[in-house]
Amino acid sequence: MTHFLDINKTDAAALRAIIDQAAAMKQARAGRPRGAPDDEQPLAGRMVALIFEKPSTRTRVSFDVGARQLGAQTMVLSGADMQLGHGETIADTARVLSRYVDLIMMRTFEEDTILEMAEHASVPVINGLTNRTHPCQIMADILTYEEHRGPIRGKRVVWCGDGNNVCASFIHAAGQFGFDFTFTGPEQLDPEPGFVDEARARGADIRIERDAMRAVEGADLVVTDTWVSMHDSQSSRERRHNLLRPYQVNDELMSHAAPDALFMHCLPAHRDEEVTSSVMDGPQSVIFDEAENRLHAQKAIMRYCLGV
Ligand code: CP
Ligand code: NVA
Repeated sequence: MTHFLDINKTDAAALRAIIDQAAAMKQARAGRPRGAPDDEQPLAGRMVALIFEKPSTRTRVSFDVGARQLGAQTMVLSGADMQLGHGETIADTARVLSRYVDLIMMRTFEEDTILEMAEHASVPVINGLTNRTHPCQIMADILTYEEHRGPIRGKRVVWCGDGNNVCASFIHAAGQFGFDFTFTGPEQLDPEPGFVDEARARGADIRIERDAMRAVEGADLVVTDTWVSMHDSQSSRERRHNLLRPYQVNDELMSHAAPDALFMHCLPAHRDEEVTSSVMDGPQSVIFDEAENRLHAQKAIMRYCLGV
């Protein structure tokens, strides 16, 4: 069973093949209407279940459209509307869904939920975000970086702000794709040390720098994300904002990065909080290419999981 649960759990050669296939598939359908099928229909006859226990715009729509372009049929399920939200176990849900569908993509809260789903499903399971990681997002980000600037290997990526789930998957990717990664943010919101150690053991140069201006010096890519994630309590909002304000990505901060540095944000963004509108809408920003590339990257992830 080939699941796609995390970037640090997927073989580096397979990750590279996914990015290359995504780029080729994107190229092959350039200029076509979004609803047009791909020439190849490797998912024809397959049924894909997309389960959401948290809100989503990009993940939901890009998986649905991508699966259809590849020839599959899809169903989008809300966790709250399933028996899952009313006491049925994850394990039983996994066994039941495996009798109906060929692939499960799930967005949930605790990582254990997706791990249990994968353990008990007899079809592949894809992680569409948990409190801890967001691997599909970072596959799209690598694709985006490389289509603008060439190979990411050896480049310098700087993450500003909260050491959250998206940051964690970036650290996994640093180890697997061989780029340098600097986290700049308050100590209270540092990324998990275990993830940092693992990426370092794979040879990546991972740094923690409290001074944002120093951190972005010479950066090839500057990335940030919301200061309050979906799983964070609203009561922590003010504390988080106070801690994170020095790490806002603005024009002054971007002026310290390399002149051709790119800016990324997985979106949804809170304009003029973690990033100013001037950076989001400025010439270094590739945020909407990133959003589009969720579609192409995930099509390649689905093909990888199904071996087609
Ligand atoms: N970036 C991302 O995963 O967006 P959604 O929450 O809209 O799916
Ligand atoms: N860190 C954010 C990412 C949203 C795509 C969250 O988990 O809410």
